[in-house]
Amino acid sequence: MSPTSLLLFLCVSFYGTAAIAPGVQAEEGCTTQRCGNLTVSAPLGLIVEGSEENKCGLQMGFQVRCTDDVPYLGYYEREYRLRILGIFYGNFSLLVSDPINTASKLGQPFSIISPLNQNLIFYNCTKAPPPEEDRAGLVDTVCRNNTFVRAGERYYNDGVGGYELEGCNSTAVPVLGKSGRVNASDYLELIRNGFLLTWQPPPQQQQPGPQPTD
Ligand SMILES: *[C@@H]1O[C@H](CO)[C@@H](O)[C@H](O)[C@H]1NC(C)=O
Ligand SMILES: *[C@@H]1O[C@H](CO)[C@@H](O)[C@H](O)[C@H]1NC(C)=O
Ligand SMILES: *[C@@H]1O[C@H](CO)[C@@H](O)[C@H](O)[C@H]1NC(C)=O
Ligand SMILES: *[C@@H]1O[C@H](CO)[C@@H](O)[C@H](O)[C@H]1NC(C)=O
Ligand SMILES: *[C@@H]1O[C@H](CO)[C@@H](O)[C@H](O)[C@H]1NC(C)=O
Ligand SMILES: *[C@@H]1O[C@H](CO)[C@@H](O)[C@H](O)[C@H]1NC(C)=O
Repeated sequence: MSPTSLLLFLCVSFYGTAAIAPGVQAEEGCTTQRCGNLTVSAPLGLIVEGSEENKCGLQMGFQVRCTDDVPYLGYYEREYRLRILGIFYGNFSLLVSDPINTASKLGQPFSIISPLNQNLIFYNCTKAPPPEEDRAGLVDTVCRNNTFVRAGERYYNDGVGGYELEGCNSTAVPVLGKSGRVNASDYLELIRNGFLLTWQPPPQQQQPGPQPTD
């Protein structure tokens, strides 16, 4: 399922249209910079809007774009953007929100395989699934008839492994599950709250970076 269709499917839109931020400072070099209330420092680096060039340790996809004081991971094409909610330099991870399910597009240097991420599985069905054990845990979505969501298990990849339903298209979305299994009824909030991405610390970077700022 394409990201766009997932967006329609979920009937959610978290962010309005964003104009290019005039306030981003075009500083050069590897200084620590701010975007909104986030501190962006190595290995991540802020990209100046309108420029694809960047100076700091950004070769590996650690670009951050700042739009209206909202930081986005700039690794992907512009229409597929992950909003950064938090950066944890100490344990090499990011909390990101993904309104159009771009997770399956993720690649190096990021991974979403963290034990703290769980799966939400969305279904678009031609008819209601039979009311047997198949329906266990299915929650109706607000979107349209015969669309459902349920909690899966730990997120491993974008597959729905074992949770397919006959007559339905399904797609998996990672969410942060702090303890136990998430409650699929909370799917809107869960998606908004984002999920964790981790990056591989480069071998030369043995010292943890600055402490998390939030
Ligand atoms: C990294 O640390 C932050 C802040 O303590 C925490 O919220 C997050 O879950 C941690 N990330 C991982 C992958 O454990
Ligand atoms: C869901 O399925 C219906 C038909 O069953 C189809 O019209 C619609 O486009 C599908 N939506 C998505 C997001 O796949
Ligand atoms: C959804 O289902 C209800 C009850 O079965 C029905 O009245 C309604 O027309 C359906 N809506 C759509 C868009 O199919
Ligand atoms: C969606 O599901 C229908 C059957 O319900 C199937 O024929 C179709 O190929 C599926 N589409 C995708 C994109 O998986
Ligand atoms: C999930 O949340 C819904 C609504 O808040 C609640 O009715 C339901 O009991 C919860 N399910 C579980 C398993 O906690
Ligand atoms: C950062 O700003 C956003 C909205 O601008 C707010 O929701 C969030 O709580 C803030 N985080 C911190 C740590 O201040």
